[in-house]
Amino acid sequence: MRLSASLLSAALVAGTSMADSYPWERLNKNDSMLLILDIQEGLYGLARDFDATLYKQNILAHSSLGTVFDIPVVITTSAQSGPNGLIPQEILDWYPNAPLIQRQGEVDAWDNSDFRAAVKAANKTQIIVAGIVTDVCTTFLARSLRAEGYSVWANFEASGTTTKEIRDIANDQMARAGVNVVSFFSIVCDLMRDWRATPGAKELLPWLDRYLPVYGMVARHHRAAIESGVIIPGEGDLPK
Ligand SMILES: *[C@@H]1O[C@H](CO)[C@@H](O)[C@H](O)[C@H]1NC(C)=O
Ligand SMILES: *[C@@H]1O[C@H](CO)[C@@H](O)[C@H](O)[C@H]1NC(C)=O
Repeated sequence: MRLSASLLSAALVAGTSMADSYPWERLNKNDSMLLILDIQEGLYGLARDFDATLYKQNILAHSSLGTVFDIPVVITTSAQSGPNGLIPQEILDWYPNAPLIQRQGEVDAWDNSDFRAAVKAANKTQIIVAGIVTDVCTTFLARSLRAEGYSVWANFEASGTTTKEIRDIANDQMARAGVNVVSFFSIVCDLMRDWRATPGAKELLPWLDRYLPVYGMVARHHRAAIESGVIIPGEGDLPK
C-alpha cells in the first residue's frame, strides 16, 4: 500500500515536471503560418472520430484561417492522383498563390525537400497544422517540426482519424512532444488577441458566423435584442 502510494506520487511529480518542461508560448500572427496537410477528399472518409458534417465544417474552418489572418499558407498532398484524392477546390481557390506541394510518396511531409523548402521560405517560427489522419500525417509532421525547433499548434478539431481512441493517443503523443494540441477557437483568439484589433470583431464575426456558428449566434442574438428585443414577463424580475 505504502509502495503504491509512493509510486503514485513519483508519477505525479514526473507528470508535473513534464508539463512544465515546455514553457507557455502564445501564438502570434506575426510569427505564424498555416499548414493544410493532406486534407484530401479520398482521405476524408477515414476521419470517423467526428460526425462527418461537423468534420467538413472543421476542415474548412481550419483551412480558411489564412483568409482572415494575413499569414503564409503552405498546402501539401499525399499521392493525390491516387485514392487519397484532391484538396477540396474551394480551399485551393482561397490560396491561388500558396505553394501546393504534391508529395509522390513521403508519408511524413517533412521528408519531402520541396515541402521543407516551402516551410522554411515562409520564415516563421510558429506553425498551425491539421491533417488527415491524426496519428500519421499530423503526428509525424508535428513531431518532425518540433525536432527542427518549430513551435507547433495542432488544431485537433480539423485532424481526423479512424477511431476516438487512436485520436486520443495521437494527440497525447503530440502533447508529450511539446505540440500545443488546441481547439480552433483558441487558435482564432490567440491570433486575434483583442476584439478591437485588426482583424478583430469587425472582420471576424461574419467569418465566425460561418465557421464557428455558435459564436455567430451570440452576435446575432445580441444584435436582435438591441434592434428589436423586448423584455418579456418574468425576465424583468431576474437578478441583474
Ligand atoms: C505584430 O506586428 C505589429 C507590427 O510590427 C505590431 O504592432 C503588433 O503588436 C504585433 N503583434 C503581436 C501580437 O505581437
Ligand atoms: C526572417 O524573420 C526574421 C524575424 O522576423 C527577420 O529578422 C529576418 O530578416 C527574416 N529573414 C528573411 C530572409 O526574410
